[in-house]
Amino acid sequence: VTSEYRPPSLTEVRLGRQRLGTLVRRTPVWRWRGRRLDEELGAETDVLLKLELFQYAGTFKPRGALLNMLDLGREQLERGVTAVSAGNHAMAVGYAARALGTTAKVVMPRSANPARVAGCRAYGAEIVMVDDVHEAFGEVRRIEKEEGRAFIHPFEGRLTATGTGTVGLEWVEDVPDMEAVIVPVGGGGLCAGIATAIKETNPRCLVFGVEPEGADTMHRSFESGRPEAIDRVRTIADSLGAPHAEPYSFAVCRHYVDELVKVSDADLCSAMELVFDEMKLAVEPAGVAATAALRGPLAARLRGRRVGVLVCGSNLDAATWMEYVNRASSRAAPNR
Ligand SMILES: Cc1ncc(COP(=O)(O)O)c(C=O)c1O
Repeated sequence: VTSEYRPPSLTEVRLGRQRLGTLVRRTPVWRWRGRRLDEELGAETDVLLKLELFQYAGTFKPRGALLNMLDLGREQLERGVTAVSAGNHAMAVGYAARALGTTAKVVMPRSANPARVAGCRAYGAEIVMVDDVHEAFGEVRRIEKEEGRAFIHPFEGRLTATGTGTVGLEWVEDVPDMEAVIVPVGGGGLCAGIATAIKETNPRCLVFGVEPEGADTMHRSFESGRPEAIDRVRTIADSLGAPHAEPYSFAVCRHYVDELVKVSDADLCSAMELVFDEMKLAVEPAGVAATAALRGPLAARLRGRRVGVLVCGSNLDAATWMEYVNRASSRAAPNR
């Protein structure tokens, strides 16, 4: 890794966690015990869920947003921030702006889930609705220039990776002897930070990244050796639908991630049904991607291992959640 793309050091991640203090929650790690999972993976497989869905604003995203905003000078912070997002980043920036006593203006596409738009508005953010993603980026650049607001990126940069690294830091502090962790990948900022914290403390722990089949930018980027873009995003895991990779998160993932795997929408629906049935968690599709990978492409390799599985978010309205769970239930065998 060249110095431009140097991962955050463990010291930076520790300092980042101190800086975040009580602005974020230290989320719990919870051992999954359940008959159905035991039957699939063998009862000797130890599955340790990091329940980041209980974070403020419903996902890990405030950690990175806050560290970026805490790094702005006082004058810049007072001028406010801007962001573009279909949902979870919007909510995180809204939460962070309120927590730090400033204002946020967030550009969202009209296709964004209404529950997330409402969630962002509830934190007091001003929302600008646009028709598509291209328009969104133009609009956010205009706001940045004309209003002097600082642009907060959803996944790129060292401070963002330092923020997501704090998830990994808490996790290894709670469970120092994990043999593998599984982390969902959208733009890759989440996985870059967690992989850094894990490998810097326990280099033997394997790090797996998971992408949906319909949004596999990081797979393509690993293959070509540089950040790639895709034309269309087709997955129910909208939070993992980054249309392109960026150089920093790509470089850090490339350096620390052992392997990437893919899961289908059907795998995601099935995992949503299982985590509800056995763990009583109502999780959005992106939030169960790691569980889906453990049950699917990684099942044989991780059998009998001590595995960390990230549950990274849960911002979804009840009707959409139910629709996805019902898709899985209607496929499940009777009298299972
Ligand atoms: C719930 C959830 N999981 C995973 C991700 C992926 O994070 P990244 O884009 O840093 O890979 C996101 C991104 O918004 C998210 O909201």
